[in-house]
Amino acid sequence: MSCFHARIAYFLVVFGVVAGLGAVGVRADQLASAYKRPEAIPFPAANPYTPEKAALGKMLYFDPRVSNGQNMNCASCHNPSFGWEAPLPRAIGSQNTPLGRHAPTVLNQAWSDEFFWDGRSKTLEDQAAGPIEADVEMNMPLPKLVERLSGIEDYVTWFNKVFPNKGITKRTILQAIATYERTVVSSYAPFDAWVDGDKTAISESAKRGFKLFAGKARCADCHSGWNFTDNKYHDIGLPSEDIGRAAIDKSNPKAKHAFKTPGLRDLTQRMPFMHDGSVADLYDIVAHYASGGIQRPSLSPLMKPLDLNQNEIEDLIAFMKSLTGEKAVVALPILPN
Ligand code: HEC
Ligand code: HEC
Repeated sequence: MSCFHARIAYFLVVFGVVAGLGAVGVRADQLASAYKRPEAIPFPAANPYTPEKAALGKMLYFDPRVSNGQNMNCASCHNPSFGWEAPLPRAIGSQNTPLGRHAPTVLNQAWSDEFFWDGRSKTLEDQAAGPIEADVEMNMPLPKLVERLSGIEDYVTWFNKVFPNKGITKRTILQAIATYERTVVSSYAPFDAWVDGDKTAISESAKRGFKLFAGKARCADCHSGWNFTDNKYHDIGLPSEDIGRAAIDKSNPKAKHAFKTPGLRDLTQRMPFMHDGSVADLYDIVAHYASGGIQRPSLSPLMKPLDLNQNEIEDLIAFMKSLTGEKAVVALPILPN
């Protein structure tokens, strides 16, 4: 991580100097190192990728039989049509009650090392058990899920093929789902084309917005790297009462009201924003950061009011819009019988 930050710092210095000369976009080679998309998806050694495992995980992801009432699947709250989220401030669970937090995206989770807004889960495998079992979500005890899937002939065949000598277990169910999730990657956006050297891929306004994002507006202090997240926790001063990370990191006063920095890929498909879905659109996002957030002891020292004129606001928004590519069409799997 520190090496990565050093690279960004280096980039900011070089880019800052170049931009100062009025030549925005000239040093695309410097950009490439800090913001270039990775070539391959990382899969953990404990749960390696196979195409069959991902295909099985996809069936489970989209299968309502994974929920107790057979009335919801993972896509109910992490819907590919809405940037793998739900277009609601707070998603609705299988018992028609709103959840405590906004559903975050499943995009690019292969690059995260802790999961949930407060990071309470250490692996994607572990994370997947949460929504399945939570009574307010899918309300399905894992032993009952094993039993239900074991009564579906095609699933038995699939699991025996993908997990020889293991078949359907709590662990193999979670491993298959996590493997599918790791294949869910954000689209190639106009910004990527620009980083890859196409000088006309984004507008002049978006280029100025990127300069602001990484410079004066200091967004890249937290939204760093190709997925625009440091994978750390910060209190950005939203009015929400939720203590966030403090439930996990109890002795750290800065953990209060801190949440995991979300990535900014495919952003325009994922409104509303934030852990509580309280910010409606990109204008309100910029307005929040310009205000500097609520002053309280846990507020991140990186949060300071910003002095932005109307053109700069438009530029920042144009840049954020350039992080959304074409919407991927996700073909639904045929579910086993
Ligand atoms: C009823 C809505 C709902 C359903 C169904 C649901 N989720 Fe979620 N999901 C959420 C919410 C809300 C959160 C955030 C909770 C929190 O952070 O406290 C979340 C968090 C996550 C995260 C963490 C993302 C991050 O940035 O750390 C992943 C991954 C995820 N869900 C995958 C799944 C999978 C896989 C399924 C199906 C097995 C599923 N979800 C079913 C609502 C849902
Ligand atoms: C101190 C670290 C920090 C800085 C600086 C920062 N952000 Fe954030 N950003 C976060 C965190 C943490 C969240 C999630 C907060 C929450 O939900 O409580 C977030 C959320 C967002 C979201 C919503 C994403 C989603 O999926 O809901 C957007 C968009 C965003 N930031 C853009 C920006 C822009 C633009 C700037 C600069 C003007 C900026 N951020 C500066 C840490 C930061």
